[in-house]
Amino acid sequence: MPRKTLTDLYQMKAKGEKIAWLTSYDFPSAQFCQAAGMDMILVGDSLGMCVYGYNGTVPVTMDQCLVHTEAVRRGAPDVFLVGDMPFLSYQISDAEAVLNAGLFLKKADVDAVKLEGGVRIVDRIKAISDAGIVVIGHIGLTPQSSGQLGGHKAQGRTADAAKLTLEDALAVEKAGARMLLVEAIPPEVTEVIHQRLSIPVLAIGGGLPCDGQLLIISDLIGQFQAFTPKFVKKYANVAQVITSAISEYVAEVKASKFPTQEYTYSMLPGEVEKFHKLVGHKPAPKAADKAPKKSK
Ligand code: KIV
Repeated sequence: MPRKTLTDLYQMKAKGEKIAWLTSYDFPSAQFCQAAGMDMILVGDSLGMCVYGYNGTVPVTMDQCLVHTEAVRRGAPDVFLVGDMPFLSYQISDAEAVLNAGLFLKKADVDAVKLEGGVRIVDRIKAISDAGIVVIGHIGLTPQSSGQLGGHKAQGRTADAAKLTLEDALAVEKAGARMLLVEAIPPEVTEVIHQRLSIPVLAIGGGLPCDGQLLIISDLIGQFQAFTPKFVKKYANVAQVITSAISEYVAEVKASKFPTQEYTYSMLPGEVEKFHKLVGHKPAPKAADKAPKKSK
């Protein structure tokens, strides 16, 4: 299958076909995404929490994002891949923003980059777009600035706050973003944004009235343990499956039940006896040989 392009995604919007988007951070899960028919993958800076165990996304570096994005591209060559610009990779200057966005293309072969912020970040969106790179805006709850937002809280819940969120959306589109992600806002706000913008609008925690949905893979499969945002639906509980598999392994190792013969290699015919003779080894009697013989 050829790789999904921005044009394909725009055609899906035009036809009213919803776009499915998921994060992935590694080669195997990227393969699963591609096999499952995922339209888009985001190698989110949420990898800081989901993979590295940080409290938030702020410590995540460009190097970490690039390494994971490269692995995901290897696993999902045909999916529309989005690199996520980590904290301080784009805030400082237009030049640094363009350079770092470009590194995602050069090293990880992404189709787009995503950066957080609305009105306050329009210069960066314009600079990166002007360099020929597809930009996806991200407004509403923006985890890199959760300190300013008073934590990981839903946004746009009052009329005034919702108006500001709409202004952010309009500014992001005007600056040249080709898609928009809204996070943790009420569906009523998503609906107005979706109506007013011509670019595809996708949501994570923004309800149905838009062009598609994003979730974090570690939430979806029930792997992330620290907390569960309201918008997360767990489609599986791999934490339980993995923990139970590991516990069984530990128990079998301790009881000498693993590995059975099925999981071991055999020597070539006649070589065992030769080997024992060669090294002067007397094999321990087998359990059956030790058992007292029954009298007839
Ligand atoms: O890093 C990420 O996964 C994200 C989502 C929370 C939208 O940016």
